[in-house]
Amino acid sequence: MTDETTARLERLSGMLKRRGILLPAFEIHGGAKGLYDFGPVGGRLRNRVNQTWLNHWLSLGNIVELSCPTVTPYAVLEASGHVGEFSDFMTMCSACEEASRADTLLESFHPNPDSLSKGDLQLLLDQSQPPCPSCNAVEWTEITAQNLMFNTTIGAGRSGRPGFLRPETAQGMFTSFPALYRHNRERLPFGAVQVGKGYRNEISPRQGMIRLREFNMAELEYFINPHETAQHDFSAWDNHVITLIADEQGEVKRTFKEAVEQGIIRHETVGFFMAKTFDFLTQVGIDAQRLRFRQHEADEMAHYASDCWDAEIHGSYGWIECVGIAHRGCYDLEAHENATGKTLRARREFDEPKVVEIDGWTTDGAKAGPAFRALAGAVKAAVENLPSSTEFPRQIALDSGDQVTVELEHVKRVQRTETISGEWYIPHVVEPAFGIDRIIWHILDHAYDEEGKDGEQYTTLRLSENVAPVDYCVFPLFEKDGMGELAKTIHAGLCLKPNIVSMYDSSGSIGRRYARADEIGVPHCITVDHQSLEDQTVTVRARDTGEQHRVHIDEL
Ligand code: ATP
Ligand code: GLY
Repeated sequence: MTDETTARLERLSGMLKRRGILLPAFEIHGGAKGLYDFGPVGGRLRNRVNQTWLNHWLSLGNIVELSCPTVTPYAVLEASGHVGEFSDFMTMCSACEEASRADTLLESFHPNPDSLSKGDLQLLLDQSQPPCPSCNAVEWTEITAQNLMFNTTIGAGRSGRPGFLRPETAQGMFTSFPALYRHNRERLPFGAVQVGKGYRNEISPRQGMIRLREFNMAELEYFINPHETAQHDFSAWDNHVITLIADEQGEVKRTFKEAVEQGIIRHETVGFFMAKTFDFLTQVGIDAQRLRFRQHEADEMAHYASDCWDAEIHGSYGWIECVGIAHRGCYDLEAHENATGKTLRARREFDEPKVVEIDGWTTDGAKAGPAFRALAGAVKAAVENLPSSTEFPRQIALDSGDQVTVELEHVKRVQRTETISGEWYIPHVVEPAFGIDRIIWHILDHAYDEEGKDGEQYTTLRLSENVAPVDYCVFPLFEKDGMGELAKTIHAGLCLKPNIVSMYDSSGSIGRRYARADEIGVPHCITVDHQSLEDQTVTVRARDTGEQHRVHIDEL
């Protein structure tokens, strides 16, 4: 980071704190790394970004909103693969004992250390010997995998069970699949969205809002039938040429349509969500020139993904991933099916009925019933899954954990021809996952303008009206002769309007009040002056142009 960028970053962070937008949490107790407050101004900014995000996806028409618990039983995250796989590689400075993420430490020695295996990271660490970011020593412990989930216990005493704070909102949406399928009248495609907290015990949260331990996520799980070819209309984006960093070609500039047609984006639904993501980000104020999409390399992909693109935004910290758009295939639904024995499938009818040869095994109820008693149903299901070449006797491990020996006398061969009209299949999922805090950080970074008239330093937060936390500031020129009362009446009237936030400010000179309003990005300021008392008109000043015009208060 250049000295100039560091200085601007310090001024921006100072302003955000001073003006109640973003503040370190629990500061009077010394603060806690990776935990932030959205303050009296920032709270509404976050809310408006969340609401804009929800409206953006709900407007597709086949999306519903869910709200699932953040406290999650062990079994759910074991089934999803997070217990086994959700880790980062860590190394510790032997001198000061500060932990670091190995890939972050090695960023200046490799173009994409996130894609390296533990062994390759260790090799690179040994060769490159980076200094400790905290104390500058060069003495690192061996790299280990550190699971990022926060553990908790659900319940107390003997009934206490292990659990976690969720690392993503997605799993609750997968386990809700039966309710979603019913709600959508058993027709795909459909989606579910959820906005809420995610928790990751990050190894070294050093970059402000970029790496938090508790953060705001917004995720869409879109369930599709993999046997149908998706057809999306990309014509709305024909005028947008996007920067794509593709796994094989490197950096290319294409429209979304071209990228899908040329196979750079491998799946049309992934391409469609990338385009919708572009719309959302620009709608909330991200500069399109500082936005690109980067495809994951095969080794970098999360354990569940088969193709993944990150929306990266450029700001004070360089290029940062703010959204991940992943094709998760049938990974999650299949994993929860396997773990629970519950069916998480959708039905599809064939265009023409199909004649199929059935050749396999089932149990002989008269022999298997008395032999396996309560387990007979589970044994039957397991036997019917065996291939026709199976030889008996055979040991079978049931989902319940029981082991049984199935003898030849317990089973019957099944050979017949059947006509079937359709089948049950596991839907595939395309998931855009948004990190709201990283997006808000970049909205602020892109909106932060320090240039005043004639080159003097003057701060304006040029926020989009879609997300500006305060819609109007109402000022009395002086709090006398009835100007204060009239301004308060206007302010109270605005506060009664749905979705409007107004702020009353009478302290300091009018110039200082405009400056404070500009610093938090208020799009319009309303001033009550002497003339207002005579003709009921006020001045309305636009933040970005500074233009003022008089409006009758009934027309505000
Ligand atoms: P990174 O590689 O930066 O750790 P990730 O690949 O683990 O991120 P995902 O698992 O894809 O991130 O999470 C989805 C989104 O959630 C990210 O695009 C990002 O915007 C956000 N996110 C992830 N981790 C954090 C965090 N610790 N603090 C704030 N936002 C985060
Ligand atoms: N649900 C996507 C992620 O957390 O990465």
